[in-house]
Amino acid sequence: MERVKTFIQERLLPEEAEKLYQQGAKFEEIMMMYGCALREVQTKLEVLNDELSVRYNRNPIEFIKTRVKKPLSIVNKLQRRGLEVSIESMVENLNDVAGIRVICYFLDDIYDVARWLSSQDDIRLLQVKDYIKNPKPNGYRSLHLIVEVPVFFSKGRQMMRVEVQIRTIAMDFWASLEHQLSYKKDVPHSEEIGAELKECAEVISHTDQRMQEIREKIGIFTELT
Ligand code: GTP
Ligand code: MG
Repeated sequence: MERVKTFIQERLLPEEAEKLYQQGAKFEEIMMMYGCALREVQTKLEVLNDELSVRYNRNPIEFIKTRVKKPLSIVNKLQRRGLEVSIESMVENLNDVAGIRVICYFLDDIYDVARWLSSQDDIRLLQVKDYIKNPKPNGYRSLHLIVEVPVFFSKGRQMMRVEVQIRTIAMDFWASLEHQLSYKKDVPHSEEIGAELKECAEVISHTDQRMQEIREKIGIFTELT
């Protein structure tokens, strides 16, 4: 931040420089707070996975990825929605500044993880979007939760919003390829590719269901409720 301070001081009127610097410092602080919220949620999920692993030899979570939204994406999203570009507007309007992706093995694991997490008494569940029961037209599948989690700072408790995306390994594989298509401009035959991807999404969904059924047939984990 010191380097940024010098940079803006050299180029702006003192009062403008001071204002910009204050905003920068505030932005850095709020992004730190979102990062801490992600660590809280990640720890909660890891605790669940550890417990189930020891008690039932079950590991519902394959891996967890976290990210804090980049400043440019924040500005783009606010502008796209016709909202004011400010820190206050970001905190009020954006649910996905802090994002965590939970990759599970089986379909049932997704709903179990969502239930275990959202029923914790310090977690406030704000929104559920079930794109598994209601896939997007392109074939996208995933369970999205918006939660608020308390984070304890020196000044006290702060509720922070986090977007949690829970999906199977297969859904994640699909979503990463589809994401590349949606970000690439001027892809030749993009319509056919879209149709092919949609077909793959159906195959994947069918496979996820069969894998779940096979697991049930093997009879492991059935004692768990
Ligand atoms: P965004 O403005 O994209 O955040 O949409 P939203 O606020 O309506 O929320 P939604 O639950 O639809 O999507 C949130 C996030 O889910 C996105 O930022 C992506 O990470 C992911 N997502 C949603 N739809 C798709 C999709 O069609 N393909 C892929 N690859 N990811 C998606
Ligand atoms: Mg998003």
